[in-house]
Parts: sequence; structure tokens; C-alpha cells
Amino acid sequence: MHAAIRYQCILVRGKGLIVTIDGPAGSGKSSVAKRLASEIGFSFLDTGAMYRCVTLACLRKEMDLGQIQEVANIASQVQIEFFADKVVLDGEDVSEAIRTPTVTKSIWAIADNAAVRESMVAAQRRWTAGRDAVTEGRDQGTIAFPDAECKIFLTATPEERARRRVSQLLELGVEVNYEEVLEMQNQRDRQDTQRESGGLKQATDSIMVWTDGMTEDEVLQSLVAIVGSKRPTEVNPMAEQPLQHKPHLMPR
Ligand code: DC
Repeated sequence: MHAAIRYQCILVRGKGLIVTIDGPAGSGKSSVAKRLASEIGFSFLDTGAMYRCVTLACLRKEMDLGQIQEVANIASQVQIEFFADKVVLDGEDVSEAIRTPTVTKSIWAIADNAAVRESMVAAQRRWTAGRDAVTEGRDQGTIAFPDAECKIFLTATPEERARRRVSQLLELGVEVNYEEVLEMQNQRDRQDTQRESGGLKQATDSIMVWTDGMTEDEVLQSLVAIVGSKRPTEVNPMAEQPLQHKPHLMPR
């Protein structure tokens, strides 16, 4: 679609602008997506944290995570709130509790539950309604926001992602074998891409960014440039008034 017409649609729609960032585990999307949101003045939605919250809620109730309907009921009942520095589940700050290995190990059962995914996607759409937002996950550009104005698929070669993981763990004082990390990551990539519901897939209209050899600052700058390039720059000849730029879409 012609850029001016495309942006007129956005303005007429009267909603916020959505930037989706999807990509495989270890692509560094979580921290760079959060930094991007802050850099361009958008809200940030960490969708992985939502699946983590549902997992934690079910584990706390000692539920069998294979009970599809019961788990789906929890997903539709929990209240998840995002603040700048914390994630709140039913009124409790669970920012740390959702990142324990026990939660991480159990998420797959929740993330594979199609009814849970439906609730999560509906909640993501409600949360972003009327906001300018950066959303980060695996299905954001494909399923949650197929009409998003700016879609980015952030990735890096498996070897680079595994090297980064090894250095992150080393920084935390944990020594691991590179080959084992790579193998586990390949396994996770296979599971993520083959998942029937909400599997990792690049949206055909997304911009792919390979981050091999780039620092996080460099990745951030390239994402800021991509979002900046999507801002309206032309006057729609069919509109009575020139299109107004959304001020906070401009990179600072
Ligand atoms: O990004 P993360 O590691 O916090 O994500 C936690 C889990 O949730 C991970 O196993 C993938 C899954 N997930 C998902 O299925 N769909 C999303 N939109 C985001 C995360």
C-alpha cells in the first residue's frame, strides 16, 4: 500500500501504533524491545511474561498442567498488570517469581494450550487498544497483530545465540558447555517452530534483522531507524488536510 494512504488508515482508525518484535529464543529481543519502547516513548508489552504468569498461577494451585480446560479457565481469570519495573499477578509483584527455573520448565504446557493462547492474544489486543506499543513474543506479527504498522523479526545464527547464552551464564558465575547449550537451543527452536498453536513464524511483511556481530546498542539503533522509517512523511493527495506526524513515533 502507498505509504501516505497506509498512514491515513492508521490515523483514521484512531488507535495507537503497534511495533511487533518476534524472534527465536536467545535473539536478545526481550531487552532490546524494552529499550526500543523506552527510546521511542511507546508502552512495552512482554508477552512471554503473560505465559509465565499463567504458569505460576497454575503451579501455585498445584494443578495438572495437562488439564486443558482447567488451565484455560485460570488463564481467563487471572489479572496481569504491567508497570515500568514490575509484573503484577492478581495484585502481587511476581517479577522474580515468574523467572524461576521451575516456571520456565513448565511453560511449554501452558504455551501449547490453544485456549490459553486465545485468552492471551485477546488480553494483548485489549492492552494495546489505543496505545502506541512495542510488543514482543513469538506470534505477535503473525497472530496477535497481523495488521501491525511495523513488524520486526529479530534473529541471529544458532551459534551466535548459543555463544551469547554461554557468556550470559558465565557472567552469572555458571560454567556451561557450548555444545550442550547449542544442542538444547536447537531442540527449543524445533519445538517453537513446530508448535501447532502460536508457533514461531516470521510474518511475511516483517523486516528481518540479523544481529550477528552487533552490540545491543547497535541493534537498538537499527530498530529505532526502522520504526522511524515507517512514520508518515507524505501528504495524502486524497486527504483534505496534510497528515500530522505522530510526535512520539519520531526517534529521539
Ligand atoms: O520470552 P520468554 O522466555 O519470557 O517466554 C516464555 C515462554 O512463553 C517461552 O517458552 C515462549 C512462550 N511464549 C509464547 O509461546 N508466545 C509468546 N507470545 C511469548 C512467549
